Amino acid sequence: MKLLVCCLMIIVNISNNGKASIESFTPTSSSFLFEDTTKTTDSSCYRPCKFNVKPRRCHYSFVIEPTIQENGKPAIAINGMTPGPPINVCVNDVIVVEVKNKIPDQDVAIHWHGVEQKGTPHMDGVPMVTQCPITYGATYKYAFIASAPGTFFYHSDSVSHQSDGVYGSLIVNQPQPLEPHSALYGYDRSTENTLLIAATFPQLLTGNLEDASRMQPTALAINGDDEDFKIFVMQGFAYRLRLINAIAIECPVVVRIEKHEMVVIATDASPVKPVVAKSVQIYPGERMDVVVRASQETGGYWVKARGLGACAGLRADAMLIYSGFNYTSMLQQGQNEISHDSELDSGSAVSGQMLESFKNAAESPDPETVYLGIDKSVVDFKEKDVDFRYISDAIPKKPFYPASLALKESGVVQINGKSFLYPNSPMLLYPREVKADFTCKVGEESKNQEPQCVLTMEPKEEAVELALVNEGFGSNDSYTFHMHGFGAQVVATWQNPDGKPISRKDFEKMIEKGKVDRNTRNPPIKDTFVVPNKGYTIVRIRLDQGGSWLLECRACSLSSLPTAVLINVPPKMPKSIIRSLAKCGNYRPPDVLLN
Ligand SMILES: *[C@@H]1O[C@H](CO)[C@@H](O)[C@H](O)[C@H]1NC(C)=O
Ligand SMILES: *[C@@H]1O[C@H](CO)[C@@H](O)[C@H](O)[C@H]1NC(C)=O
Repeated sequence: MKLLVCCLMIIVNISNNGKASIESFTPTSSSFLFEDTTKTTDSSCYRPCKFNVKPRRCHYSFVIEPTIQENGKPAIAINGMTPGPPINVCVNDVIVVEVKNKIPDQDVAIHWHGVEQKGTPHMDGVPMVTQCPITYGATYKYAFIASAPGTFFYHSDSVSHQSDGVYGSLIVNQPQPLEPHSALYGYDRSTENTLLIAATFPQLLTGNLEDASRMQPTALAINGDDEDFKIFVMQGFAYRLRLINAIAIECPVVVRIEKHEMVVIATDASPVKPVVAKSVQIYPGERMDVVVRASQETGGYWVKARGLGACAGLRADAMLIYSGFNYTSMLQQGQNEISHDSELDSGSAVSGQMLESFKNAAESPDPETVYLGIDKSVVDFKEKDVDFRYISDAIPKKPFYPASLALKESGVVQINGKSFLYPNSPMLLYPREVKADFTCKVGEESKNQEPQCVLTMEPKEEAVELALVNEGFGSNDSYTFHMHGFGAQVVATWQNPDGKPISRKDFEKMIEKGKVDRNTRNPPIKDTFVVPNKGYTIVRIRLDQGGSWLLECRACSLSSLPTAVLINVPPKMPKSIIRSLAKCGNYRPPDVLLN
């Protein structure tokens, strides 16, 4: 990863200095983020990215509130839209988003998924970790640099808000000559060729979480629910498409385009060695950039997205339409033909963890391996009455502590035997206010008797290797994890061919016997990766920026307790920045949620 990071830096440097005299944007303090000098409207930051041009400040205003869509379905929308406004900027632009929460009785925070937040860890959007939650009626101003190019998206940190519609695309473009695979395509139109894939539910999840275990998604949607999304192409040309799985629950999605192959060129925001694929499989939160060439007869072709896991059997379609083709008839006939398609079988689909990074990784010493054993178990939570500012996605039946949640039958997914507890005070900003009895450390979990604690780790070295082992004693599910703040080298993914669970001892034996193969030469660099059931995923992270960074399984936590580890990396936040931020204030969960 060193190498890729260094390449990204070089790329950034070239666009800054290369042919170029862009003003340096090195953040010495983040105060400059708040100077509104060259305010722009939403769309004006989308432009061809050029050398020798000053980065812009791209200003957006989001009002998040429940709405009824034109199709009659309820949603939580941003400025009345779901998905929310697309953000399309050039690398090094400053993105400023003022978020106003108008969801009654709900707290909000917006996470910029995949954005590394270099120098701005307080903009990562995790309530009670990197910021105070945005309470009803309040506004929080996010401001951060689009420091790396690629395909990102944003979403409410809450699984239920995201599922109800609070998400949108965030694409960071760069000058075409810097794109490693630009020779493969003629068009990279991020405003028109980005496909956000979501799952839709029959009713809002927000405020209904006690029911959520019974609440199944009923359809998939591509760029919203209204009609088939259309991609217009000209015969003979190649197009870069950006596919984003914006689903918050455990729904991998397989995408295929009738009669067209795709060439995968990036996963998450990192370029990979191009791979030809008939279909691709994308996990929740994952992104994949593919090139498709309009090499067939003039016509209309279905782009088919099919759900797996919790979305098994669900589908959504978009249309790839060649210019000059009258697709009216296709809309009428097409739908019937596309229900059976054996090529959407996930077995042959290309997935992000199989790919190789475009550039080889730099040689570096093997970091220390930290074991994170993931499994589902039935846990006996005792009654507690602790006043926490932010509890979890799940809504407690009784005030303040999720101990009384009805989790006894279903079990919870834990890491090293612990459910994650959101701190009583944002860990990044006020670490000393976090109550010591509620924290626990990776490797020393037994010092805390509670099944739920603020599970943290403070790696001492510059790099760390995390062995995420999905032990599989209590569940047959695979889990998708998201790493905040860092691109992780995914050096190994493995599933036990015997179909037997793996204990910590088993894993340690495998390590001892040298049976764990790692690709340290050109591992894909990802912020979102799946940990297969009765298997493992091993990632390496270079801890090159201070902050409190969550490694979380978001999809694990709907109507359950959070599954996460918080990685604290020095240096701590400067006091001047902390002082400029709003304090959390006294909090009582609103009564309406507690009936
Ligand atoms: C497209 O086809 C439909 C019916 O198949 C027809 O009614 C319509 O006039 C056609 N449009 C054009 C521009 O040819
Ligand atoms: C997992 O699958 C096996 C074999 O199909 C089954 O026997 C077992 O009950 C399953 N376990 C869980 C927790 O569902």
